Amino acid sequence: MSEQMKLLELVEKRKIVPVVKLDDAKDAVPLCGALCEGGLPVAEITFRTEAAEESIRRASKAFPDMLIGAGTIVNTEQAKRAADAGAKFLVTPGFSRKVTEFAIENSLLIFPGTCTPTEIMAALEYDLNIVKFFPAKQYGGLDTIKALSAPFPSVRFMPTGGVSAANLQEFLAYKKIIACGGSWMVKDVYIKEGRFAEITRLTKEAVELAG
Ligand code: 3PG
Repeated sequence: MSEQMKLLELVEKRKIVPVVKLDDAKDAVPLCGALCEGGLPVAEITFRTEAAEESIRRASKAFPDMLIGAGTIVNTEQAKRAADAGAKFLVTPGFSRKVTEFAIENSLLIFPGTCTPTEIMAALEYDLNIVKFFPAKQYGGLDTIKALSAPFPSVRFMPTGGVSAANLQEFLAYKKIIACGGSWMVKDVYIKEGRFAEITRLTKEAVELAG
């Protein structure tokens, strides 16, 4: 089994991918520690801040067994920085041929962002049949995923955007959903105020809900 397949199995097993935004790399280790303590050793650290690359580097070093990836990757320069920092997977908000090709050439697991049939077809042209569905809630949520599953029976989705403790189980109950992404347990305010115990509590709750 390829390294990518093994990582994919882990994502599927964990069922939830916390989407994290870190303004300060000093928070990376406590944040990842809080997720691990909550029973969810997975983090998508987004390139929405300057601290992303260093955060991935520090967290990957401190938690080598944790599934730490990079999110909000919008170009190959970020993809390269993320990979060099130790990211085990890449997530893009939309579909980018350049980033997808970079990931494939470098044997990196990628969840390309899609929300239309056209974007899914673009992903399938690269033999990628596991895609992020973003922004999930705003683009019709589970109903849209079910409608997209009809013409694309081989495709599995990682809905992200608007997922919360209130609708997690509903999403996960649909067999075409491999995992859900979301920030509800790692909200900015908890990180900024150092409320890592709260992150652990919400993570535990999410893990229980995911079952
Ligand atoms: C993302 O970009 O993937 C999201 O910001 C996560 O969405 P959420 O904040 O609604 O969970």
